[in-house]
Amino acid sequence: MQALTALVEQALAEVGGCTDLGALDATRVRWLGKKGALTEQLKSLGGLAAAERPAAGARINEAKARLQAAIEARREQLGREEIERALAAGRIDVTLPGRGEMRGGLHPVTKARLRIEALFRAAGFEVATGPEIEDDFHNFEALNFPPNHPARAMHDTFYFPGGKLLRTHTSPVQIRAMLERGAPIAIIAPGRVYRCDSDMTHSPMFHQVEGLKVDEGVSFANLKAILHGFLQAFFERDLAMRLRPSFFPFTEPSAEVDMSCVFCDGRGCRTCKYTGWLEIAGCGMVHPNVLTASGIDAERFSGYAFGAGIDRLAMLRYGVSDLRLFFESDLRFLEQFRTL
Ligand code: FA5
Ligand code: MG
Repeated sequence: MQALTALVEQALAEVGGCTDLGALDATRVRWLGKKGALTEQLKSLGGLAAAERPAAGARINEAKARLQAAIEARREQLGREEIERALAAGRIDVTLPGRGEMRGGLHPVTKARLRIEALFRAAGFEVATGPEIEDDFHNFEALNFPPNHPARAMHDTFYFPGGKLLRTHTSPVQIRAMLERGAPIAIIAPGRVYRCDSDMTHSPMFHQVEGLKVDEGVSFANLKAILHGFLQAFFERDLAMRLRPSFFPFTEPSAEVDMSCVFCDGRGCRTCKYTGWLEIAGCGMVHPNVLTASGIDAERFSGYAFGAGIDRLAMLRYGVSDLRLFFESDLRFLEQFRTL
């Protein structure tokens, strides 16, 4: 019995020394498991005289119960300690000041587009869209491009196998809108366009906004007025604008729209190649062939159209001298436009 008391004492000391649940379980197995020290004691009862067995058995069971209770108590305590440690480690101090949140912003090209849309909406134009993957009919044929026109050549246009292409300008939306809605019509059509082209002022993907107005009695003077009014409103300053005779198959007469350079106020600088002028759009009176191809009576109606580079307009409004910066997704660049 003295040996039993000593064993229990030793077992209790070990239980008290366990500092985690894994060690506690190992201790339990060592003492109370199938081959545990106390279990062995019970097995050895067979060697005692029959008269001694009940008393000895009772004492061993009592010892086992004591040890079991001690293990249970220790397990509970260790479990509690573990939870407390986890709570302490994951504690959130709600009184600490916040880290502040980075505010996102719209891309400068998107800002320019939204600004353009708002200005033209106010002037009675509706916003129209068309697909970026176009067919030859809408991108060229209905726009009065002769079959052998150089703009159709592979070096300008990205073609898909099967004849579809990435639209090279937003002018095909003119055709789609006129076929769909007829005349009179007044729309602008902003969107992405694609050309095999890349340098400081040209990018293989860029944005244009198309304008189209068809009604009875629409004149070139109306075109000049809307373009000038738009530029004044868009740049919020009094800028000189000039129309330079040009050629597009889908307009007659045609012109290129220049505005006085915003970087040097027309005095001449690197950006305007020392001319004092920057080209921002092409325009003209809608060619009768185009009206006819779009199902509009060219005897009764006339119209003007223009196509401006949104990225160009954004460059000039925000003073960015290299167009490619718009497409590099460099946060150091983009962050500067958050509040503009
Ligand atoms: C056109 O694309 C005609 N569809 C415009 C037009 C519409 C004329 C309606 C008449 C009537 P152009 O290729 O010049 O024309 O392009 C128009 C504008 O898009 C240019 O003035 C320029 O601002 C911009 N642009 C042209 N190529 C690029 C490019 N690679 N990267 C960025 N902007 C470009
Ligand atoms: Mg041009």
